[in-house]
Amino acid sequence: MTTKIRTAVFGLGRLGYWHAVNVATRIRNAELVAVCDMNIETAERVAKELEVPTYTTNPDEIFQDDTIQAVIIASPTSTHFDLLKKASESGKAIFVEKPLTIDLNEANEIKGIIEKNHTICQVGFMRRFDPAYDAAKKRIEAGDIGDPIYFRGISRDPHAPHEAFIEHSGGMFVDVSIHDFDIARYLMESEVTSVSAHGRVLKYPFMEKYGDVDQSLTYIEFASGAAGDAEASRNAYYGYDIRAEVIGTEGSIFIGNLREHDIQILTKAGSTHDIVPDFPTRFTDAYNLELSDFFRVVSEKGTPRVTVDDGVKALKIALAARESYQTGQRVSLSPLPVR
Ligand SMILES: NC(=O)c1ccc[n+]([C@@H]2O[C@H](COP(=O)([O-])OP(=O)(O)OC[C@H]3O[C@@H](n4cnc5c(N)ncnc54)[C@H](O)[C@@H]3O)[C@@H](O)[C@H]2O)c1
Repeated sequence: MTTKIRTAVFGLGRLGYWHAVNVATRIRNAELVAVCDMNIETAERVAKELEVPTYTTNPDEIFQDDTIQAVIIASPTSTHFDLLKKASESGKAIFVEKPLTIDLNEANEIKGIIEKNHTICQVGFMRRFDPAYDAAKKRIEAGDIGDPIYFRGISRDPHAPHEAFIEHSGGMFVDVSIHDFDIARYLMESEVTSVSAHGRVLKYPFMEKYGDVDQSLTYIEFASGAAGDAEASRNAYYGYDIRAEVIGTEGSIFIGNLREHDIQILTKAGSTHDIVPDFPTRFTDAYNLELSDFFRVVSEKGTPRVTVDDGVKALKIALAARESYQTGQRVSLSPLPVR
């Protein structure tokens, strides 16, 4: 009989709730034993729904419990640093949502702590586990499109998240485009060397209070000599629209689809199909697969597919993009390759 990994979840909001559901109901070798949220009513509601024995607003209650082996951090990004530090120092394995932390000093410090304590720590770049992105990765590795030379990423939300989220999110480049920066490094098999970014507020004036934008575009250059771009938007009123394309020297791969189900409705008025409404729907499988893999790695004491180093590198690109947007200058991450 396998013993289940005793797990706690921090943050039970838009995404943390789904991680809690997955651990409680779908992950074979994990057991949800505690939930923590700053809002006691949220913690109590989720604990009751999922039959979790402990709920609290005090993270230390979880860190001091030596029977808890793993934690999932899905609280606002600005809170990740403190929780990561305490989790590593109390010997827990960690799954942390992206972005790793809100700034680079914090990220580098956490990397040092995680390495010193030999903590298993996986970052929540779930696109790497999404069946479509995963199939594309395998095709690229098999050489089906030749050498990858251009990446295009599209990440559009149907609307802006609530204002308190924006305030603690790091902004569009750090919160949204970071997914494309990570998957671009992964699919293009090359590090990003420079970014030039643009952005505007087109629909949500409150974004201006936080120096944020609701529409952006980042041009990306890679060490391999390849290039790319990443569009991010909070203005896709029609649905949640996540797509990518990798152009190679001998072919192209399109990734993603607007449709939720493979159906088409034909009436006298014409032909229509449904559209993916939100991220929990689009990435149901990916969220489940990334957590399954995390718990496999914990039980085997292995290395996660998405490491803290990946978290630091993606954050570095995102912060460079934000700087580029703010200054109007192209920002280099490392010396450009000799071509
Ligand atoms: N991978 C993805 O696709 C994806 C999607 C959405 C959000 N995220 C990430 O997940 C994190 C949470 O985002 P969200 O949209 O679920 O936010 P949210 O605002 O909907 O929920 C955050 C929850 O955390 C609670 N909270 C606040 N401070 C806390 C603390 N110190 N300890 C415990 N709980 C605390 C809040 O009360 C709230 O219930 C962010 O880092 C975000 O970037 C990732």
